Amino acid sequence: MAGLYRIKILLLWAGIFGVADCSYIVTPFKTGFTINFQNAPLGNYNIHVKEKGQNETGNKVFQDTIHRSLYNISNLKPCTDYEHVVTFSNAGIETPCVPLNNEHTMMTNPMNEGDIKPGKCDPGYLCFNTDWNIDSVQITANNIKAQVMPCPSDNKIFCIKPGFNDICTDLTTTFKQCGNSSFSVTHHISAAAFLSSIEIRQTYPEKLPTNIEANLHQLYPNCTNLTIDYICSDSGNNFKNLSELEPFTDYNCIGQIKENNDNIKNTTAIPVRVDCELKIENKEPTSTNTSIELSWTTTSRNCEKVLPELEKLSYDCRCHPDNWKLGQKSGQPTVNKQPRGGTCEVSGLTPFTDYTCSVQPTYNKKDVPQPTEVTQKTGVGVPEDVGKLKISVPEHNVIKVTCPTVKHFYGPKNIYIATLTYGGVIQRSQNNSKNCEFEFKDLSYSTDYVVEVVAYNGHFSSKQVTSQTVNTLYNNKAVIIRLSIFFIICVVMVPVFYKSKIYMKKHRNSQDVNEAVMLESIASDDVYTNISQLHHEETRC
Ligand SMILES: *[C@@H]1O[C@H](CO)[C@@H](O)[C@H](O)[C@H]1NC(C)=O
Ligand SMILES: *[C@@H]1O[C@H](CO)[C@@H](O)[C@H](O)[C@H]1NC(C)=O
Ligand SMILES: *[C@@H]1O[C@H](CO)[C@@H](O)[C@H](O)[C@H]1NC(C)=O
Ligand SMILES: *[C@@H]1O[C@H](CO)[C@@H](O)[C@H](O)[C@H]1NC(C)=O
Ligand SMILES: *[C@@H]1O[C@H](CO)[C@@H](O)[C@H](O)[C@H]1NC(C)=O
Ligand SMILES: *[C@@H]1O[C@H](CO)[C@@H](O)[C@H](O)[C@H]1NC(C)=O
Ligand SMILES: *[C@@H]1O[C@H](CO)[C@@H](O)[C@H](O)[C@H]1NC(C)=O
Ligand SMILES: *[C@@H]1O[C@H](CO)[C@@H](O)[C@H](O)[C@H]1NC(C)=O
Ligand SMILES: *[C@@H]1O[C@H](CO)[C@@H](O)[C@H](O)[C@H]1NC(C)=O
Repeated sequence: MAGLYRIKILLLWAGIFGVADCSYIVTPFKTGFTINFQNAPLGNYNIHVKEKGQNETGNKVFQDTIHRSLYNISNLKPCTDYEHVVTFSNAGIETPCVPLNNEHTMMTNPMNEGDIKPGKCDPGYLCFNTDWNIDSVQITANNIKAQVMPCPSDNKIFCIKPGFNDICTDLTTTFKQCGNSSFSVTHHISAAAFLSSIEIRQTYPEKLPTNIEANLHQLYPNCTNLTIDYICSDSGNNFKNLSELEPFTDYNCIGQIKENNDNIKNTTAIPVRVDCELKIENKEPTSTNTSIELSWTTTSRNCEKVLPELEKLSYDCRCHPDNWKLGQKSGQPTVNKQPRGGTCEVSGLTPFTDYTCSVQPTYNKKDVPQPTEVTQKTGVGVPEDVGKLKISVPEHNVIKVTCPTVKHFYGPKNIYIATLTYGGVIQRSQNNSKNCEFEFKDLSYSTDYVVEVVAYNGHFSSKQVTSQTVNTLYNNKAVIIRLSIFFIICVVMVPVFYKSKIYMKKHRNSQDVNEAVMLESIASDDVYTNISQLHHEETRC
């Protein structure tokens, strides 16, 4: 630093005494010297004070226009030889002043304990306030050379930074000067003032119960009395301690650093979230024709210990394609939660249908990973009833039955079974695995039958659908034979008997018409057509 001080002084009062030789006395003063002018004519004075043997770089030049006889020069180095030169200039002529003790060099005082006072600068630093220039002073902290930093806001203050090991201990700072002369000051480096929470690294295992680990004691080995209590807050500003944390929740945790139960500092906030990593393992499901029962065990990589206590953990069971979801339909699946798993029954399902069922874990009513799926077919059910029967009698002694296609057989086979009964006794039975079409032939003439049709799936039959009584037609062949006889009479015999029998034939003919009308009421159209044609021809004959 600057070893030289140059002071230009305009000594107004010097003029009173006229131009004369100037002289001064220099004495050590506190942290520098006092220049005491003895004889000083009016003029400009320059005071040079510089460290002996040093260059003049970094000179401070200051002028003082206020006349006085005493000049205090401070801020010098302790126990250091300084050269002093005082000149007087008048009308461009520079004249050196004479030091009355004839000494052109002088040593500053040693620094003593009282010259070092506590200073305040940046937090985390141990600072001192002094008027001395301490550049020549060797400063050690606990016997280790200290790095001295000037305080930016106050040039009389300098600071040293205590090491991590020094926190929570008494630190002895030694100032060594003048060869071996030294003194020490001791300060307690309190955690409250010197601990830097930014330096503390915090980690936590992603597990419940969790525990935040901070490297406080590794960082500050002598702070054995410090503890950290963590307080965590969720997004709703609910405060919890670490043992109360819930999974699947974002927290911000702050450690309260305590010394003998006093909260002296807080750590920086650390975000904490534990996802349990649930693993659902489905057991073989069981089913009825309308329900599936799922059963599973739950394991968790991160929450194994607390799993049975997680009250907000639940499960949703859904089976597709019906797409059940809890709460959407009545008869919702009832979940029976167990400490490490659960069961649920999904009911209201369609028989004989392939379902994909999933178990979705939820926490606090929100889905959490990982759902699992299992496929299961519902059991065989009762087929849908066959629709309205269509009965026809296409010919005499033939009954034809059709019914609409049954959409849902709910079983492995799709068979229609038609049974023909007469007087409550089964006469015939036919199966049809393609469609609902049956034809019963060669039936008895003019008999009242009842047709019953069911859908059958290999296990269950639908309800029987029973037709009304179906009457087969008159013996159609007999009618034809009879009509043929009329034909023969008409064509062969009539020419013979025409004139004599004409009335008789006409009478019989009208009897036939009555028969035909009777037939018509139960016969199908073509039968009627045949008969009426026959009748027509007969009439013509
Ligand atoms: C003085 O200054 C000169 C040049 O500026 C330099 O070479 C020399 O080392 C300096 N001496 C001291 C004692 O600082
Ligand atoms: C110099 O220091 C002395 C002793 O502390 C004091 O009495 C005097 O006023 C100071 N002079 C100036 C100019 O600071
Ligand atoms: C300082 O002390 C050491 C031993 O403590 C000694 O060797 C050395 O000569 C001393 N120096 C001065 C300048 O007194
Ligand atoms: C502080 O801790 C360091 C490192 O553990 C140790 O060497 C030193 O002795 C301790 N200081 C005190 C005063 O306990
Ligand atoms: C720790 O606390 C105990 C009891 O309060 C006290 O006696 C001891 O000095 C403290 N130790 C430190 C290093 O502060
Ligand atoms: C956490 O808080 C609960 C209740 O608030 C309390 O019972 C428990 O002792 C606390 N645990 C810790 C480690 O502070
Ligand atoms: C630490 O944080 C708590 C809660 O935010 C606060 O009340 C307390 O004042 C803080 N302590 C310090 C030393 O900053
Ligand atoms: C399911 O099967 C039972 C007999 O095990 C039967 O009584 C029930 O009607 C069937 N349900 C359906 C919807 O098919
Ligand atoms: C009709 O199906 C039933 C049930 O599968 C069977 O017992 C019966 O033998 C079948 N009859 C005919 C004629 O295929």
